[in-house]
Amino acid sequence: MARFCITTPIYYVNDVPHIGHAYTTIAADILARYHRMLGDDVFFLTGTDEHGKKVEQAAAAQGRTPRDLADSVHGRFRDLWRTLNISNDDFIRTTEDRHRRTVHDFWSRAKAAKDIFLGDYEGWYCTPCETFWTEKELIPESRPASELENAGTLMEGPVDPTGEISLPERQETIWRCPTCRRPTEKLRQPSYFFNLSGRWKYLVEHFEQHPDAIQPSSRRNEILAFLRGEDLRDLSISRTDFQWGIPVPDDSRHVIYVWFDALVNYLTATHYSPGREDFWPASIHLVGKDILRFHTVYWFAFLKSAGFPPPERVFAHGWWTVDGQKMSKSLGNVVDPFEVAQKYGTDPFRYFLFREVPFGQDGNYSNRLLEARINGDLANDLGNLLSRVVQVASKHFLDSRIPASTTHDPSTLGQDGTLLLVRREQVKKAYLDALGRIELQAALEAVWDLVREANGYVDRSRPWEHRGTPRGTASLLELLESLRFAGVLLQPFMPGISNRILHQILGREIFGSSSRPSEPETADLDRPYPFTKGCSIVKGAHLVERLDLASAVGSRESGGVPAAKMEQGGTLPKQAGVPTKEAKVTETTSNTITTSTITIDEFRKMDLRSATILEAEEVPGSKRLVKLKVDLGGESRQVVAGIRHVYTPAELPGKKVVLVANLAPAKIMGVESQGMVLAATDGDTLSLLSFDRDVGPGRKVK
Ligand code: MSP
Repeated sequence: MARFCITTPIYYVNDVPHIGHAYTTIAADILARYHRMLGDDVFFLTGTDEHGKKVEQAAAAQGRTPRDLADSVHGRFRDLWRTLNISNDDFIRTTEDRHRRTVHDFWSRAKAAKDIFLGDYEGWYCTPCETFWTEKELIPESRPASELENAGTLMEGPVDPTGEISLPERQETIWRCPTCRRPTEKLRQPSYFFNLSGRWKYLVEHFEQHPDAIQPSSRRNEILAFLRGEDLRDLSISRTDFQWGIPVPDDSRHVIYVWFDALVNYLTATHYSPGREDFWPASIHLVGKDILRFHTVYWFAFLKSAGFPPPERVFAHGWWTVDGQKMSKSLGNVVDPFEVAQKYGTDPFRYFLFREVPFGQDGNYSNRLLEARINGDLANDLGNLLSRVVQVASKHFLDSRIPASTTHDPSTLGQDGTLLLVRREQVKKAYLDALGRIELQAALEAVWDLVREANGYVDRSRPWEHRGTPRGTASLLELLESLRFAGVLLQPFMPGISNRILHQILGREIFGSSSRPSEPETADLDRPYPFTKGCSIVKGAHLVERLDLASAVGSRESGGVPAAKMEQGGTLPKQAGVPTKEAKVTETTSNTITTSTITIDEFRKMDLRSATILEAEEVPGSKRLVKLKVDLGGESRQVVAGIRHVYTPAELPGKKVVLVANLAPAKIMGVESQGMVLAATDGDTLSLLSFDRDVGPGRKVK
């Protein structure tokens, strides 16, 4: 049995959980469940990071003790994980005794390796990020002194001590944190240091020799560039200006730097927990991109010093924004995962987060996008497939039971006989490959390839017309087997929905609450089929209810992208100036940059080509339209464009333009248009898109 240990970051308790925390934890849950499904010995760790100045300050602001704040917020995290169906095996709190003991032991090992020494720290600190910075790394901002408070500022400019001479107002510089942009503070205090510079060579060599140690590879390049870019400075690992932390062994004037304390949690729950020793080194630390440097540069150096092997992989995912902006309390745009799960259901929420955006990239959260996924992918594609197949199968087989003696003869299905079989094999491979690379979106896309193929197959094979015949039996067995595949493959992502699919087609559930199959043979995707022989079909409620979107627009805008913007983001660029009904709608918002994102695959669906205008003439009865004949290099097309208020037909021939070549043909004022030329609009005028080098016609634009 392979061993698999996955961790999430431990979450700060200065504030309640939001969608960003849910994201990392659900991702780890998906991978943990996937490995349990494969039969691996899994350990899945999450927890809370409860020490540090930030928590101390948050507690003081609420008039509570840090311990009291930590107790209540850590409870919110535990509740959230229950709500989101998270199957963690341990939940660590850094205020636990077991952790303090580990941190002391770990400190002593690094000290024995002569990597910890006492000195004086002078530099900048960002408390919200619990990060030390050099002045070079900060973002300076000059402001008149009267506008600023003192923290994070340095005086500049002339000062008249008598106050009699009128001088330009004194400027002060505020030094902002490059991560969160909030003011930093200057620290001067005695501090213990960790000899990071002495581990530089090890770090560079390790990351060079282990290309998979940091993923995605772009993040590995970032870390290597950071290491090669400048001298690695020794790291301050203790503080004397607050109390809420683990004291330094034998020097209780200092508390240990919160990141040194926090990172060690991964060892507390594995190497230092009897019976769990073999789960170190961790297989994967899942982290957000903002905390990658801590988990690679610092953590790997600490581990090396204390004599532990490093984790096998650190994977950094992207960030969710709302309306393209960072979530923040002051903007009031923080998405509450409890609310989303309650409103839309845990499984649809889990699905959306990983279907919408490639794991590793940033994404923009909106309820509208989530609703589109619920109605499109879950209710239409998956839900309809299940209910159609279950309906027909429950009538086809006597008493809704598939006799064990049933014979399956795909040859009765003609050329579609092996279609689903072949697709299932392709999908299984794509899914396994994707999850091996932590490409969660690609794994879901693979499952949907099968779901769509199966839906098309129902339409073509029409099993309800072949009731009681070997052909009807064969097509239903193929469909049921495909649903079993989808049900099994979706288990890590949507455990509840997956159980309901499998229950309807098998008459029983085959996965336990942690996704470990109670019947490995029924969950097995390599098993010769039809597996369903001897099973019962159980008609159930709709898998996912369709949302009535028309009636809910107002409420949906909160926590998401306003309706009008999304409408625009979801459509193709407007055809140059064509006065359609939608054109009016988009006109008013045409300068608002859409905040929804599309994937590169969605973009690639557009076939954009260079084209040369051969002929142009007016469209009778229209003041704006021109009928163009364009050359696509060996093929000519007729295109209608609404550009006559800016271009005369006579000046157009010979111009090189960009054509959307795969747009479905449409009739505009009775004239067929076989594509669309692109233009940028600016008020009443517009400009056709062209090229600044000579390019032949029909060349791909990408
Ligand atoms: N306590 C440290 C981690 C110590 S691990 C040894 C910490 N905590 S945190 O609560 O601030 O953040 C935890 C995780 O949430 C990070 O991985 C961070 O990237 C993630 N997210 C916080 N906001 C996020 C989004 N808006 N989107 C996606 N993930 C984000 O850092």
